[in-house]
Amino acid sequence: MTEAVQTLIDALCLPLLAETRVEAARTALVLQEMGPQQLCIPQPQTADHLAMRSLLAQSCHPAASGLLAAFDLIPWGINPVAAQVGDRGSMYVVATLMGPEGPVPCADLRMGLYYQRPNTYYGLHNHDADETYTILAGSAIWTAGEDTQLRETGAQIHHPSLMPHAFRAGPEGLLTFWRWSGDVNLHSYTMLGDPEVVLTA
Ligand SMILES: [Fe+2]
Repeated sequence: MTEAVQTLIDALCLPLLAETRVEAARTALVLQEMGPQQLCIPQPQTADHLAMRSLLAQSCHPAASGLLAAFDLIPWGINPVAAQVGDRGSMYVVATLMGPEGPVPCADLRMGLYYQRPNTYYGLHNHDADETYTILAGSAIWTAGEDTQLRETGAQIHHPSLMPHAFRAGPEGLLTFWRWSGDVNLHSYTMLGDPEVVLTA
């Protein structure tokens, strides 16, 4: 395992170990034991990549420096719910790091990173899986069920199964770590109607 891959694994474990839930600790264990074997694919440098690097460079989160050092290993662009979100997917970029389809294979856990462009609104949605987000850089006006408030770097937000959630990224954008546990199926991922979203179907 290269030093950069170990740096990436160590950085990804920080938000997992900061969460007290058993499933978060198990996610870290799977990552540490198996390692992202296929995370050595050169990534193109897009405007989003440059924005993410800039956000990480300014972040005070302890995982930020490791993610920045290993940034070229992160497989940005794999959106597991692209079919469900349609055009809304153009406002964000996802890196899937663990799940039934890999790159770190695990049948009942998913994990990855999420970047949302500045001042964009990703509307209410839900899914069967339990989910925890950790904000690694930037901020958002965050809706989790009935609660809407400003969430900043370091915040951890837990969405129990089927809780509606939505994010309005701040002026600097939003970079998060996310993980799923419980029923991690993709077919239940649903965009919900709310005043900010015009549903096309
Ligand atoms: Fe979610």
